[in-house]
Amino acid sequence: MMGFYMQRRPLMAGNWKMHTTRGEARTLASAVAAACAKESDRDVLLAPPFTALSAVSQAIAGSAIILSGQNVCWQEQGAFTGEISPGMLKDAGARAAIVGHSERRQIFGESDALINQRVAGALRSDLLVILCVGETLDEREAGKAFNVLENQVRIGLTGVTAENMTRLVLAYEPVWAIGTGRTATKEQAQETHAFIRGLLSQLYEKNVADQLRILYGGSVKPTNVDELMAQPDIDGVLVGGAALDAASFGRIINFEQE
Ligand code: PGA
Repeated sequence: MMGFYMQRRPLMAGNWKMHTTRGEARTLASAVAAACAKESDRDVLLAPPFTALSAVSQAIAGSAIILSGQNVCWQEQGAFTGEISPGMLKDAGARAAIVGHSERRQIFGESDALINQRVAGALRSDLLVILCVGETLDEREAGKAFNVLENQVRIGLTGVTAENMTRLVLAYEPVWAIGTGRTATKEQAQETHAFIRGLLSQLYEKNVADQLRILYGGSVKPTNVDELMAQPDIDGVLVGGAALDAASFGRIINFEQE
């Protein structure tokens, strides 16, 4: 078992959402790069707004930080007003894309089927994909959290081969914990991650599920990162608010093993 865990290098991801001008992004990215240890046993990823990708790419040049888009289209070019293609992301220096973030689902009405198209397109273009899933408070209180998550995972991953799963990371982000200061308890998060990993071992081989990184997101802070990262099925975090402050995100990146 230990071998599998060791393959799941912790991935500490910062999602800057709709924050930072290019200048602010450059300053923040440089400070994050300075906070990363040179020899590290963990991966760090930054997802600035599209307009700041190139600036951040320059600011982190020479570091091992992975640059990511916050979304991606499934087509390389064409009449898709408001969208960004995988090739455009790569041209700006990105190697990854977040897909299916709850704000895309809740505010912009993106469906599981649409998100699946994005996942497929990004994988076709060799991007690393972070597929986000998560239930709302109503769904959790109605006892439907696992059903909702199962649908999001099954539909989101339709057509994704076991081989492509090596370039995919799942992020569990309960909607009720995002930006609310209300984190899932470490027990709730662990239980849900274990459920998702179990589902993955039904959809794929067990070794695919065992090697998949599952991140937790939703009000991750310097004060709760250590206990979250100590859970056996939590392999990293996707951080919003606390990623906008270099000292906070630096502490999160350098979480301490409990
Ligand atoms: P938060 O956001 O850390 O501000 O709760 C997390 C996310 O939406 O990825």
